[in-house]
Amino acid sequence: MPENRCVQGIWSSPWLFILAASGSAVGLGNIWKFPYMVGENGGGAFLFVYLLCLLFVGLPVLIAEVALGRSVRANPIDTINDLHERRIIKKAWVFVPYLAGLAGFLILSFYSVIAGWALAFFERSLKGVFVGTDEYKTQSIFKGLIESPAEMLLWHSVFVVLVILAVGQSVTKGLAVLVKVLLPVLILMLIGLSIYSSLVGDVEQTLIFLFSWNWNQITPNVVLSAVGHAFFSLSIGMGGMFAYAAYMSKHMSIARACTIVVGIDSLVAILAGLVVLPLVFSLNIAIDSGPSLTFVSLPVAFGSLPGGQLVGAVFFLLLILAALTSAISMLELFVSWLHERFYVGRFKAALLLGIGVWFLGLVSLLSLNDWGDWTIFGYVFFDALDKFTSLILLPIVAILLSVLVALNLPRSMLENELITRNPKHFKWWYNVLKFFSIPIMLVITIIGWIGV
Ligand code: PHE
Repeated sequence: MPENRCVQGIWSSPWLFILAASGSAVGLGNIWKFPYMVGENGGGAFLFVYLLCLLFVGLPVLIAEVALGRSVRANPIDTINDLHERRIIKKAWVFVPYLAGLAGFLILSFYSVIAGWALAFFERSLKGVFVGTDEYKTQSIFKGLIESPAEMLLWHSVFVVLVILAVGQSVTKGLAVLVKVLLPVLILMLIGLSIYSSLVGDVEQTLIFLFSWNWNQITPNVVLSAVGHAFFSLSIGMGGMFAYAAYMSKHMSIARACTIVVGIDSLVAILAGLVVLPLVFSLNIAIDSGPSLTFVSLPVAFGSLPGGQLVGAVFFLLLILAALTSAISMLELFVSWLHERFYVGRFKAALLLGIGVWFLGLVSLLSLNDWGDWTIFGYVFFDALDKFTSLILLPIVAILLSVLVALNLPRSMLENELITRNPKHFKWWYNVLKFFSIPIMLVITIIGWIGV
């Protein structure tokens, strides 16, 4: 492999991959999206299918993506090129990583608008706007933000600048340190808040909602949403995990690392559900009210909590940082490629991509207000992009990458890469991926598309 294709840097400890990958996985998807997805899709039915998807689709596909990412030790585009040049795979596969990078790029454009909401709420928390607030006031504060393109643009821009500055650095340096502090603090805070929510909120209704379901609630739409969200939440199918894996130590067990990442990701999502939903039920906020759910319910809790001004500010700060560590991974594929292949400085590459993200985000945020009349298949641009990436692009890339790994790479190469202590574990993963995850992804995606 020519020198210029080799990755720039390596995680100095095996744990750093787990931290960086968890940083990518844990983000707005867990704290903002998961509670409202559960709410919109019937509670227990969605949670049940979602957990199955994580275990039998998300985890095997994540392992496949990471194994592929570590195999050549280059950025995803050069990895696939290298495999093709060595005649291991056919030329047709070389377009897949571009699709993955595109998914990350598109997601970041609306993700940064939502991260902008968190910034706006952070500022309001600091100022004490939520002290003594109720659900009506927070609802109108949220609505006011959505109806103000100028304010959303300001915060969206701030977030894009933060992303450019962060991705401009080498990810093997500061990122893991940030996540190392961020994750435990975030988890502790969510545990604390969930205890508070269970004291002031309607915990009984939450538990019934989360853990009971009717089989007829499991519609094609619910199943497709669950798979799409599993991909989104685990950052699968957009090349971020693929790119991070290139920096991973060869001694680390991929299966173990990925299982830990899936565990942390699920824990954070469920905790977020246990924080948000009891409040939603006790405040009589509509459970299916969608993207506003977290942003409306939490400030009410902070507003009535002693020291809530500070607690709220700290919470939104953590949310912003979690979003940032996810956002970094969305650009990593193209940034590492431009850097390794064309010697473009990381900062320059990040700036170039960041400008594109900023423009697309501008369209997204305008579609929530001034351009709200313009719809694509009945969705405003913001929602259309969310649906297109989660329900179409991510499943397609995930299916392609899985087929590439399971059916095109030599089994011995994968065995060497996975180094499982027990050979049965390798067989288990390989067979589940080949005979279960891939067919099920195909079926769910196609039936979901027909049913949506
Ligand atoms: N997994 C992130 C979250 O849950 C979102 C993400 C999507 C991150 C795509 C990287 C790539 O918020």
